[in-house]
Amino acid sequence: MNRKYRKTVIAGNWKMNMLASEIKPFMEQLKENMPKTRPCDVVLCTPAVMIPAMLKAGKDCKVAAGAQDVSKHEKGAYTGEISASQLADIGAKYCIVGHSERREYHGEDDMLINAKTKALLEKGIAPIICVGESLEQREMDLTMEHIAYQVKAALSGIDASQLRRCIIAYEPIWAIGTGKTATAEQAQEVCQGIRAVIRGIYGARPARAVSILYGGSMNAANAEELLAQPDIDGGLIGGASLKPADFATIVKATEQGA
Ligand code: 13P
Repeated sequence: MNRKYRKTVIAGNWKMNMLASEIKPFMEQLKENMPKTRPCDVVLCTPAVMIPAMLKAGKDCKVAAGAQDVSKHEKGAYTGEISASQLADIGAKYCIVGHSERREYHGEDDMLINAKTKALLEKGIAPIICVGESLEQREMDLTMEHIAYQVKAALSGIDASQLRRCIIAYEPIWAIGTGKTATAEQAQEVCQGIRAVIRGIYGARPARAVSILYGGSMNAANAEELLAQPDIDGGLIGGASLKPADFATIVKATEQGA
């Protein structure tokens, strides 16, 4: 983390979990476990249908709402899609784009992710842009090349003033839901590399101000070490964000170096 130059963000990604009836008890437990003064921005990316219930149940919990996907289209005949203005309308301040699960199971490519990022920025929602390599790519030493391409493609046509609202999440595919976390050194190396790619496009100042998160089996036990790395400005947390006490512990782990 480097609080002098950029925001620290802890974002949960509930994926396709939880029911509306489970939200109130979850938010009550979360509130009980959260530190009294918030050391960072806290976001929960719930299924879109649950955003209003989460915001209502978490009224005094200071948790911002995020979505997990958005349509690239503004409005119209796109059955099943949800637009950025509809997300903004129900209170979403953040939205994940380009998660590897969407790239893999829904065939999302870098051009689509770029279009979705722009759609979000236009409606004032902060995109959390996910990038990450497969195990094969890591073993073939293609990690940075692949990630540099993903970052450049996602940010194509986005100017420096819009970049300030973007968050990048480095999520190695082999670490997602596997219990296999990247070591703090591996995660730092790639997050530093991502910042260098952004510096190459926008220059030193904008690059210094972008928050870069790590995601992939981040949990209550390993968060502190990962967050101690200079280029890791927070986390995007799947499994552990479904357990209120664990998620709160990760938030607390950002208190270091405050
Ligand atoms: P896990 O924390 O369950 O590995 O998931 C990470 C993730 O995909 C967050 O977007």
